[in-house]
Amino acid sequence: MKKIVFYLIGFLISLNLFAQNQYNLIPQPQKLTPQNGIFTFKKGMNVSIADELFKPAADLLTRQANNVGNLGLNVIKGKSSSGVAFTLNPSLKKEAYSLNVTSKKIEIQASTGAGAFYAMQTLLQLMPASMSGDQQTSTPLSVPNCSIEDAPRFGYRGLMLDVGRYFFKVEDIKRFLDVMAIYKLNTFHWHLTEDQGWRIEIKKYPLLTQISSVRKESTLGHYRDKKFDGKPHGGYYTQDQIRDVVAYAASKYITVIPEIEMPGHSQALLAAYPQFGCNQDKIYQVATRWGVSEDVLAPREETFTFLEDVLSEVMALFPGQYIHIGGDECPKTQWRESRFCQDLIKKLGLKNEEELQSYFIRRIDRFVTSKGKKLLGWDEILEGGLSPNAMVMSWRGVKGGVEAAKQNHDVVMSPNSFFYLDYYQGDPKTEPLAIGGNLSLSKSYSFEPNLPELTEDEAKHVVGIQANVWTEYINNIKYAEYMTYPRALALSEIAWSPKAPKDYAGFKKRLEAHLPHMDALKINYSKAFINQ
Ligand code: ACM
Repeated sequence: MKKIVFYLIGFLISLNLFAQNQYNLIPQPQKLTPQNGIFTFKKGMNVSIADELFKPAADLLTRQANNVGNLGLNVIKGKSSSGVAFTLNPSLKKEAYSLNVTSKKIEIQASTGAGAFYAMQTLLQLMPASMSGDQQTSTPLSVPNCSIEDAPRFGYRGLMLDVGRYFFKVEDIKRFLDVMAIYKLNTFHWHLTEDQGWRIEIKKYPLLTQISSVRKESTLGHYRDKKFDGKPHGGYYTQDQIRDVVAYAASKYITVIPEIEMPGHSQALLAAYPQFGCNQDKIYQVATRWGVSEDVLAPREETFTFLEDVLSEVMALFPGQYIHIGGDECPKTQWRESRFCQDLIKKLGLKNEEELQSYFIRRIDRFVTSKGKKLLGWDEILEGGLSPNAMVMSWRGVKGGVEAAKQNHDVVMSPNSFFYLDYYQGDPKTEPLAIGGNLSLSKSYSFEPNLPELTEDEAKHVVGIQANVWTEYINNIKYAEYMTYPRALALSEIAWSPKAPKDYAGFKKRLEAHLPHMDALKINYSKAFINQ
């Protein structure tokens, strides 16, 4: 008898595990109700769309099912009582969806293309991993029955890629966007200019691409070693390529935010246009060593005219509402030593160089705002007062973000201690070279954006979170993917899933069960988390 009870308990546990293992979703949806049974795709089934809005999502499903399972699914306009049906539900929020899977039918409801697209990503994760790949399979393509109601916790779910330190080709950027979209990330922050390279074509200033986009060599090994590889490195995006990337991102419901750094991180720019620097006779070079350059822009009228010209071309290329102007890490040495800057400080009645930086940012803020766009910058921009619609990206921990929210500015939390994906994610002895730090998957996952320092109203200003891929030590897309995943999945879940007590063990278990999908997608993720 005892033995039977023992086996029965074992059987029930395995059933339960089996049931749970069928729903290994990342990010975890808002509400998931498992049901008995499965839906199996059959040859020639219809995928009906009640509205053209749903065509991209329906195409995504049929393309995969037809390539992988040779199913010959058809997208049809209208309503269908079997197969897969997309229906319009205007009561759902912008990115929300419902997904109902029964043995007879799959029904998706959304009010936007984005909602339907996210339902599709969820559906693909519920199917066999082979459905996410590009190889034909004879595995029946089935989905466990369930009912899902889902919507994101935050509207801003971002990743930043630094293309200034290393240039990434358009096809690499598209690959980066492809993977972001799978995990319901909706904002790509494109860090386009740096001391070590300027990467965007500006028609009015051709030297930015002729001179500022190429450095004569790069740092070899860690920057402390002071070694160089002796090989030129360069690259830039033409305006046509930028438009192509922006449209590609939009097809995946991703907004692209361009970043044009100022007044610091501008050494590459000065190599082409030294007249905008503090020492107009200096021979500037595009930086070859990592770190923060002392070569910064001087707040001259000609510099502002130049920046306004550049930003005007940038704004015409990016339809999103935010323009990121950097604003971080601007050393003040050259401003202290410059006759012009010291005279300007006196003339404007400013106290010091810090106030001069605030003057700089406020002028750019006024310009961006006057063009109907909103200014976004790293948390240093908060130091001198901003227009009410400017947004702050908190990177030096959360302090700047908390302060900004208290001053009624919208905030993206991107604290280095949780979301700097250039930090080591495992033992530096066995991991590829990284800038330093120690940022495990569990540490990233432990971040909670709803900070106790903020009142309920202040917390509403936290519009989302972002992880940053700085590329001093990352010179190709596979390496970038390795540093990004799986830590970006922790970000995805924090940004999308409802606030809940942290269950890292549960997240890790779902992730381990999801890995075959990442393998099918050929995502070069790190396995460092497995033994942590
Ligand atoms: C930054 O890491 N300097 C924003």
